[in-house]
Amino acid sequence: MHDFNSLKISRRVIASTAFQYGGGYDFTENPWSWFWLKTGLMSIDDFGAVITSTITVKERKGFYINRFRPDKVIRIYPTKIYNRFGWNNCGIEKFVKIELPKLGDKIKKIIVSIGALESIEEFFIMLRILNELDVVGIEMNISCHNVNLCFLKDSEILRVLFKEARKISRHPLIVKINAESDYVLISKIAQEERINAVHVMNAMRVYSEVLGGYCGRSGKENKKVALRIIRELRQNGITIPIIGGSWIWTLEDIKDYEDSGANIFSISSLFIYLPFYPGFLSKKVK
Ligand SMILES: Cc1cc2nc3c(=O)[nH]c(=O)nc-3n(C[C@H](O)[C@H](O)[C@H](O)COP(=O)(O)O)c2cc1C
Repeated sequence: MHDFNSLKISRRVIASTAFQYGGGYDFTENPWSWFWLKTGLMSIDDFGAVITSTITVKERKGFYINRFRPDKVIRIYPTKIYNRFGWNNCGIEKFVKIELPKLGDKIKKIIVSIGALESIEEFFIMLRILNELDVVGIEMNISCHNVNLCFLKDSEILRVLFKEARKISRHPLIVKINAESDYVLISKIAQEERINAVHVMNAMRVYSEVLGGYCGRSGKENKKVALRIIRELRQNGITIPIIGGSWIWTLEDIKDYEDSGANIFSISSLFIYLPFYPGFLSKKVK
């Protein structure tokens, strides 16, 4: 078991978003992912932890219409993915009462991603609820481009958020940042307020004509941005663990992240192209 500043994970490769609430998508929602889960070739057991899709206080549709119109929220190209889901999720209450119990003991692998839409109070409500559960940690998503997070652009608000979150939560806390924010300042505040780790980085902000608005781009081009940010954080005195992830496809990619200063490696998009492969990579990393 690795212990990164109290974040305890059995392996250094973790999955980000790909397992939805931890149990994976059902057949009607995503037959591709469902198939790989059923064959056992894609399994939560292969990873140090699994970060969920972002959960909010109330149930949300986001920009998601229904399972028959994935083209409205996701576009998959050979070296990039655009997504504009906008945090469609079942809300914290159903997540805790219905989704997490389905996982049984595997709940001990879960890092819950939480997001707030209007005020930092929403984070506190969810942190209090999650104190009741034995999850690995909580990730605060302050970096999504598909929702309007302007109240989180103020560094003083972020300081209050991190300080209070640390007081409220008994779990290790992670802050997920993006390339478009003042990530050095945010990470410094996070470190000062005893946040356990930062996650570099969320998808990048781009405008997509086909999806009809700003969306998050995950892609090959993001990797060099993420590596540069990780190096910059280390050069600027960030010593807390860094989860590095953007377009990890090979063991060489993981080595690049490690050389830049990341301790833990997160994979998301690769699950869409080759669902069995992240597990294979994970088992190769010490
Ligand atoms: C379809 C899709 C849905 C995503 N949903 C979320 C989300 O709910 N919360 C979040 O913090 N990041 C979300 N992300 C971002 C990923 O977790 C990840 O940070 C990003 O895609 C970079 O990693 P990658 O290059 O391995 O995909 C999503 C990404 C994709 C492709």
